[in-house]
Amino acid sequence: MSRPFRERIARAADSKKSPIVLALDLPASTRRLPDLATKTIRAVEQHICAVKMNFHVILPLSTSEISKINKLVHSCGLQSIADIKLNDIENTNDVAVDHLKKMGFDAVIANPFMGKAGLARLVQKAHRVNAGIIALVYMSHPGAKEGFGLEVDGRGIYRTFLERASSAAADGIVIGATHLDILRQVANQLPVYSPGIGAQGGNAEQAFRSGADYLIIGRSIVEAEQPAKIAKEIQNEISSVSK
Ligand code: XMP
Repeated sequence: MSRPFRERIARAADSKKSPIVLALDLPASTRRLPDLATKTIRAVEQHICAVKMNFHVILPLSTSEISKINKLVHSCGLQSIADIKLNDIENTNDVAVDHLKKMGFDAVIANPFMGKAGLARLVQKAHRVNAGIIALVYMSHPGAKEGFGLEVDGRGIYRTFLERASSAAADGIVIGATHLDILRQVANQLPVYSPGIGAQGGNAEQAFRSGADYLIIGRSIVEAEQPAKIAKEIQNEISSVSK
């Protein structure tokens, strides 16, 4: 059995000298998607530690196309994360994890809104099949405060989500790079994955300095004329940051 996800991604980040998780959000038609995914991963693999695939990339692809992409990801020494923000009843979550694992994903992003016991069971289920769970704590988009910022019992509900992630022994949490104050508050508790850099206004260096461990970056890289050049620039920018 290979090492746990949390260790696998830390090792990948170490060996690639990069905390960048590539959000493979390709603006391609279904027909071109597999080829473009392959080309993009090959171009940037030296500058990233993982690839994240969202619903909108997973949905139009077949199981074998996704498995093929994940095989490539692994052959490059990278980890693969399914960003489906899973949030359902226990039985449904379990089946989803099994399917994603069979397709080669190493970790799944989930929403602690499902409840404390549900998240704990999901983490246990994922760990049994040697996959990881990364829990949303505060999303990056402007509307995030309408959900994750809701006040419950005099404090932001994201605090409860953090406690749920921590007590469930989740493998990481997601906090938008657009919320540096929250990043600073929760740094050093669980590995922090931070999206919202570039296209959504967040800054890689500031997010990293504020406590992010991994930076999720999509459009700034995948929509660039030269994705490798941009990925390398961000990798270099962060490499000089001491936390
Ligand atoms: P961009 O193009 O903005 O892409 O660099 C960011 C990627 O990250 C996803 N995203 C999130 N995923 N929690 C998540 O789990 C979040 O708070 C969050 N904000 C953005 C987004 O879907 C895209 O794939």
